[in-house]
Amino acid sequence: NIPSHVKIVEVGPRDGLQNEKEIVPTTVKVKLIKMLVSSGLPVVEATSFVSPKWVPQLADAKDVMEAIQNVEGARFPVLTPNLKGFEAAIAAGATEVAIFASASESFSKSNINCSIEDSLTRYRDVVSAARELSIPVRGYISCVVGCPVEGMVPPSKVAYVAKQLSDMGCYEISLGDTIGVGTPGTVIPMLEAALDVVPIDKLAVHFHDTYGQALSNILASLQMGINTVDSSVSGLGGCPYAKGASGNVATEDVVYLLNGLGVKTNVDLGKLMLAGDFICKHLGRQSNSKTAIALSKK
Ligand code: HMG
Ligand code: MG
Repeated sequence: NIPSHVKIVEVGPRDGLQNEKEIVPTTVKVKLIKMLVSSGLPVVEATSFVSPKWVPQLADAKDVMEAIQNVEGARFPVLTPNLKGFEAAIAAGATEVAIFASASESFSKSNINCSIEDSLTRYRDVVSAARELSIPVRGYISCVVGCPVEGMVPPSKVAYVAKQLSDMGCYEISLGDTIGVGTPGTVIPMLEAALDVVPIDKLAVHFHDTYGQALSNILASLQMGINTVDSSVSGLGGCPYAKGASGNVATEDVVYLLNGLGVKTNVDLGKLMLAGDFICKHLGRQSNSKTAIALSKK
């Protein structure tokens, strides 16, 4: 049942860097993005057009987009929380955007300062503005198995938001275990509920690795037929509005897993590791990718 080809959506430059204490210079972000593209990754989420008061780490979104304007070989979606962000993204040259809702009311409030219903209303406006410009829109759902405030999140809530995002016109819906608490025990029922309302080809999975469960959860998702996986080079990342959440699953580890399964990704692991090395050296820390650590000792 495992798909023969998996699309990896690299979220390092966005999810990875949005939570760094020290703000990363624009030139470093741009070099990282270029290195990720040259490893063969088909989609590199580049930045977010969110409030700089909320996420100062990505306040240079416009400059990042301008610097990668002529980079070919990958798509560069950006996060847009509302029409203001959407318009700024388009003005900066974005050709694909992502909206981000939550399956938990408390997280919706702490992340985007509004209720789930209000966010869906805003997002309908973003999607219709995007449709007029033929801009594809990806939809995220956060807290698909657990919420930092509310604890367990029922699969029915995820299915509800997934259907709303799909009905409004998102071409893909990425299911985010924001705080990395899921195991296949909770992830499989959640995916089954989402699959009842959204076709498998439209679903993506987005695991943070707080409890070391991300690769198990990815394998379970692949076995259900999911063929799009989000990850972050070196396992960078974490959401500033989800306390205690660690980084995304490392892209290097996902590529190693998929190579082992004989699943095609188009990604060159060696070149990907160079990108990981570059950003880890800049941040002054060791990689969170076990694969990168193991291979660099060889
Ligand atoms: P708000 O304060 O309710 O916004 O924030 P507002 O509409 O009341 O406006 C307040 C001020 O913000 C105004 O400026 C607006 O112009 C400005 P002022 O008049 O005070 O000078 N503003 C903006 N500025 C720039 N870009 C914009 C924008 N919108 C308003 N787009 C808002 C609401 C949504 C803007 C805010 O809460 C926000 O920016 N949140 C983003 C939080 C975020 O980026 N979180 C991380 C990404 S999500 C994530 O990591 C999860 C994911 O990885 C999946 C997973 O793991 O679960 C995707
Ligand atoms: Mg995330």
